[in-house]
Amino acid sequence: MCNDIRGRENLVSFFKRFNTYIKPYAGVLVLAVFTMLCVDIIAYMIPLCIGYITDHIFPFMHTPGMIQKLLIICGVLMLAGIIRGIVSHVMIRSYWHVGEVVVRDLRNGLYEKLQHLDLAFYDQARTGDLMSRVTTDILLIRDFFAFGIEHRLRIILITLTIFVLMLMQEWRLALAVYGLIPFLYLVVVSFSKKMRKAVTKKQKQMGIMTARVQENITGIRIVKAFAMENKEIETFHSENKKMLEREIKMSLLQVDLNSILLLTNGAGSLIILLFGGYLVITSQLTLGVLFAFIAYLGLMGFPINMLAFNTSLINLALGAGDRIWEILQCADQQQINRNTLQIPLRGKIAFRQVSFGYQEHVPVLKDLNFTIQPGEKVALFGLTGAGKSTLISLIPRFYLPGTGRIEIDDRDISDWELGFLRSRIGIVQQETFLFSSSIKENIAFGKPGTSLEEIQRVARLAHIDEFINGLPLGYDTLVGEYGIGLSGGQKQRVAIARTLLQDPALLILDDCTSSLDTITERKIQAQLQELMKGRTTIIIAQRISTLDLAERIIVLDRGTIQDIDTHPGLMKRNKLYRKTYEHQLAHLHNNGY
Ligand SMILES: Nc1ncnc2c1ncn2[C@@H]1O[C@H](COP(=O)(O)OP(=O)(O)O)[C@@H](O)[C@H]1O
Ligand SMILES: [Mg+2]
Repeated sequence: MCNDIRGRENLVSFFKRFNTYIKPYAGVLVLAVFTMLCVDIIAYMIPLCIGYITDHIFPFMHTPGMIQKLLIICGVLMLAGIIRGIVSHVMIRSYWHVGEVVVRDLRNGLYEKLQHLDLAFYDQARTGDLMSRVTTDILLIRDFFAFGIEHRLRIILITLTIFVLMLMQEWRLALAVYGLIPFLYLVVVSFSKKMRKAVTKKQKQMGIMTARVQENITGIRIVKAFAMENKEIETFHSENKKMLEREIKMSLLQVDLNSILLLTNGAGSLIILLFGGYLVITSQLTLGVLFAFIAYLGLMGFPINMLAFNTSLINLALGAGDRIWEILQCADQQQINRNTLQIPLRGKIAFRQVSFGYQEHVPVLKDLNFTIQPGEKVALFGLTGAGKSTLISLIPRFYLPGTGRIEIDDRDISDWELGFLRSRIGIVQQETFLFSSSIKENIAFGKPGTSLEEIQRVARLAHIDEFINGLPLGYDTLVGEYGIGLSGGQKQRVAIARTLLQDPALLILDDCTSSLDTITERKIQAQLQELMKGRTTIIIAQRISTLDLAERIIVLDRGTIQDIDTHPGLMKRNKLYRKTYEHQLAHLHNNGY
């Protein structure tokens, strides 16, 4: 990711980081905490009543009116029980509500962020890993709000209240029982640290696994073509085994902590029986108070049983918070794009001493200088890896140049409002991506809500209209992953129609015919010419026949401009160009064209 911020999160920083997501629901969270207090206060009445009944009713069982007294106390307890049920309902709903809405907002926030992050971010990130953050990690945050906080607060609250109640009734016994707490604290802190490490590893592994599944499914055709299914299965099994090991490690930590906590609880009971029993026998304590202490210890069951699970849950959420924050804190285009220039684009492009590299110290483009006039058609020619695609990706500001200056209509490229600039640049790529929706929606991707007539008009210009009309559902036919498959030429025509609809001032054709056969390419050239009419155009092509569409040709060699001239000029002067031309010509003759 953009900055590494591994594992520095604690509860305080967690709340600080996600403050904007939590704040709107602070009211509900307060209600949740308040109802939680009510639920627990009612619970403490039970040991108090047991103590009272033992000391003040049972010893006077022959005095009249005692049955009534007992009935009244039980009646009050029953009423309290009903109220507790209702309040507890409100409490649980409030916590869950907070969990669900915070996660909804967080998911939206993440998705928005992912839309705005630039391509440099995606160059480093693995799709599957991102998916696992948006899905699995987010759910852990929900659990944190839905019951993680509740449990943690109740654990602290119950433990403290019982301590105070015990202190008020018999301080010596209270201190004896609570003497174990500092020890417990140390144990929990040490387990937390271990869990945190285990969680980070586990979540990371989850990301790796999701990425594997995603990449395998995307590349399933290649896997099958190379008969690599078994190898893929093997690799997955081994990753999954690692996942299991990490899960087990995490569960073991939780189980170990749980056992230590239960032992401590047992020790507590022993202390009460032994020391409390001694105090009763030596008449320093009433039987009622002893019973109340035993009942308190019963109430301590919740914190003791929950602490291990809760510690693990909170550490999972903190780990997930780290992974989500890693994405959220990346600088995005919205933050970088503060400029607002939005004036009609004529389409002049100038590169002035532009250098660029994806990684520092690895230049891909070196000191480029050229100017393209409005409406001019220029081709980029160069061997694979020369940097052609990189060069054109600087124009819509997919990447920022390392040094030098790019100007569009004599204005620095960063003066333009980014969304506006991109909407005025049309790019037809080598591979056309079709979304899983109707062919109509695919053509109108950049302009939702376009009328069918308009879509049909551009489809006719792109010569795909006839084909679409022959489809079972016409323009409503589903394409993309779930729909019918289109051939390379058909996809390219959809892309051309899409770009015609966008009506850009500046057109970039990145090797968009290289995946087509020569005949289809020739057929498509007419549509390309239609598309290029009146627009500044940069054409990248391997085939000289496509370069014919251009007025001037820039020869790019390993990131530097070797030559800029017309076709005849280059034929005369440029060796690389002439050799490629002659080679291709010979190839065409051999194939009978
Ligand atoms: N996203 C990327 N991250 C890192 N290096 C890249 C990236 N895209 C391309 N490159 C490298 O930049 C160089 C130029 O690539 P490219 O512009 O795609 O060449 P061309 O389009 O001329 O074939 C190559 O060495 C390639 O490996
Ligand atoms: Mg390329």
